[in-house]
Amino acid sequence: MTFVPVDFLLKEAMKGNYAVGAFNCNNMEIVQAIVRAAEEENAPVIMQASQGAIKYAGIGFITAMAREAAANAKVPVALHLDHGTSFDQVMQCLRNGFSGVMIDGSKHPLEENIALTRQVIAAARPIGVSVEAELGKIGGTEDDITVSEREAMFTDPAEAKYFVEQTGVDSLAVAIGTAHGQYKGEPKLDFERLKKIVSMVDIPIVLHGSSGVPGEAVQEAIALGVRKVNIDTNIREAFVAACRKVLDTDSREIDPRKVLGPAREAAVEVIREKIRIFGSSGKA
Ligand code: G3H
Ligand code: 13P
Ligand code: ZN
Repeated sequence: MTFVPVDFLLKEAMKGNYAVGAFNCNNMEIVQAIVRAAEEENAPVIMQASQGAIKYAGIGFITAMAREAAANAKVPVALHLDHGTSFDQVMQCLRNGFSGVMIDGSKHPLEENIALTRQVIAAARPIGVSVEAELGKIGGTEDDITVSEREAMFTDPAEAKYFVEQTGVDSLAVAIGTAHGQYKGEPKLDFERLKKIVSMVDIPIVLHGSSGVPGEAVQEAIALGVRKVNIDTNIREAFVAACRKVLDTDSREIDPRKVLGPAREAAVEVIREKIRIFGSSGKA
């Protein structure tokens, strides 16, 4: 099986009222963990690579690993660009066979975000690749800003409607209180805002920065219409903790397989748990 289009998976999720997990990969063990977890849960899954992951592994390695994992998978697997910020980056992913791309123009003024998103759609749609955009600024937990400053960056529902009408984008990442990375306290999601956005646009909504958001809150967001949930940090935490445990137990261990093998297992467990929370178990 080659990569399944992201929008196909999200349309199925819309029909079934669940969310597809989108998990970031940076190396072979995480690629394998994502697909193995999805198979064990019999769930559709989205593997995604950020520009940082592409820089680290090289686009050829990322795509070759993902393609190998997808080709032998018993479940539908998509490969998506996470937070692409330039047209050139998107083109590189299209040439390498990605089945979805995100163009994150959220740091630009509205009309520039619209123009960039439209440019990407014009290149991607004719070859069957769907496009995710971002409106509002999701940002990171490390951003040194107050709660009210963060709220000022939340997605405006009327603007979301206008953005979707102007671009015809396939899915939309929204800022409703989540942030990338490890949270200092418990994140508070603006469900009223989410409800309004969902009532005004009829495309799948994407939740970023979902690691560390309590399962019930993620499930409430899914009940309101979130159809793609992005997870990176929780995988990183489990992966590195497992490596650390091996090395703490035997600081003389020099076999990378003995360090990275348990890390891969730990990643499988985290991803399986997320898939169950998202309601996509058994939906393959
Ligand atoms: O949304 C950001 C993802 O966690 C990717 O992070 O740019 O460090 O690969 P990264
Ligand atoms: P976390 O690292 O906070 O899970 O966010 C992942 C993400 O949004 C990737 O785009
Ligand atoms: Zn993100």
